[in-house]
Amino acid sequence: MTGTSANGAPGARRFPPGFLWGVSTSAYQIEGAVHEDGRGQSIWDTYSHTPGKIHGGDTGDIACDSYHRMDEDLSLLSELGVDGYRFSIAWPRIQPTGRGAVNERGLDYYRALVAGLRDRGIMPVTTVYHWDLPQALEDEGGWANRETAERFAEYAQLLAKALGDHVAMWITMNEPQQAVNQGYRVGTHAPGKTDYGLAAAATHHLLLGHGLALEAMRSSLPGRTAIGISLDLHPVRPTSEDALDAAAILDAEHNRIFLEPALHGTYPVLARAELLPPAELIKPGDMRTISAPIDFLGLNYYSPYYVGLGDWDDLRLGESPLPGHPGLVNYAPPELPETTMGWLNEPNGLYDILVALDREAPRLPVFITENGRANEDYVTPEGDINDLERIAFLEGHLDAAWRAIQDGVNLVGYFHWSLMDNFEWGRGYQRRFGLYFVDFGTQRRLAKRSARFYSEVARTGVLPSSEAMLQPSGGELVNGDIARASTARPVPGAI
Ligand code: FCB
Repeated sequence: MTGTSANGAPGARRFPPGFLWGVSTSAYQIEGAVHEDGRGQSIWDTYSHTPGKIHGGDTGDIACDSYHRMDEDLSLLSELGVDGYRFSIAWPRIQPTGRGAVNERGLDYYRALVAGLRDRGIMPVTTVYHWDLPQALEDEGGWANRETAERFAEYAQLLAKALGDHVAMWITMNEPQQAVNQGYRVGTHAPGKTDYGLAAAATHHLLLGHGLALEAMRSSLPGRTAIGISLDLHPVRPTSEDALDAAAILDAEHNRIFLEPALHGTYPVLARAELLPPAELIKPGDMRTISAPIDFLGLNYYSPYYVGLGDWDDLRLGESPLPGHPGLVNYAPPELPETTMGWLNEPNGLYDILVALDREAPRLPVFITENGRANEDYVTPEGDINDLERIAFLEGHLDAAWRAIQDGVNLVGYFHWSLMDNFEWGRGYQRRFGLYFVDFGTQRRLAKRSARFYSEVARTGVLPSSEAMLQPSGGELVNGDIARASTARPVPGAI
């Protein structure tokens, strides 16, 4: 369906009416104000304050100071003209120790945020858990402890009761695979554990937490409110026929270990035993709870993995050892660009995942809840941030999304990661993912060129032709006054 763009250029790609355009953030990455209004300590406060854990010793203590800059950040969203804003709620603001009564002052912040979004015609899309577990629960074993799943469901239900259907879509949790792998297995994220046993237990309890939260929220929310989960999925590509089996195992361990229980109530048989929860942790009924129907799947897509057979003592160009898998290597094909995270940039991986998901769960609505790239952004003396790499990334990935829709995939929305540069976990403030540049010294936000591009796409629902985009002084795309894009839009109905 190649057509004519809003600005008349041939070759434009039009998204279906009602397609939801949004941006994403998470609480610890942007809020700051870690000691305010009764907020308790989270595992990320502890971890980021542990010397040597975060690049440059950065912490989320101030981050983007979004807690104090709500109006300013809401204005950015209006300026962009997006339909939806995906943010997360900091559990330790609501229940400072992870249990018990609501801390009303913490909740007030989110009440105001949700109301502010509604006033501006922007749909609030809320992630219940984006990795900031109350430290008090970690002290009792964290996600390796079954009770954390129960506490999580209680917390989710408190939110559902308090914010009700003011929130249009709920995401129980973000990327449990990263929470387990980086948090409990390799230790590069909070709480920094390096224990396969704890990680396998955390896998089951995160999933159980998702299922219990789903059940608890359903009983407290009006029927039309959509609930789902966001998973990070990566196509795993074998570099040769010999690596087919290895690729299938990695796919099981990275993707299917959360996808399969959530969709079908089973753990993938191909995953190695040490990654799977031991049978004694799986109580009767757990898998049914975990696989209760969701209303949509959130897909976070950043990069594919390439896996090959290789000799760790004699590595070839593009190869690096695949940790935990002697004899296997990660491969970075020289023709694929990498972002400053070292992540491969391959838009077609997004297409492949979307098509595979559609086969696995036909017609299940899918939202891309994260997609974006880090970049060496800088401000020119004229005050511009010319992040052409991010525009090219957006163009490539939105094209992949558009093609998947043409091929029948039920993709209904896209949230760019991220609204603004923020605390990028272990990389601190050294990796910039935003559509807005944040000068962390002054907290000034500046629209990057990609913000103008994305705004144009979000407002028109049309991805312009590459030729139109690449024109050096590209008309509206480059010089468009972003303030002109700020017309409030009606909140689209729930899916
Ligand atoms: C994802 C996280 C998100 C952000 C991006 C770059 O794994 O969900 O918070 O850090 O990576």
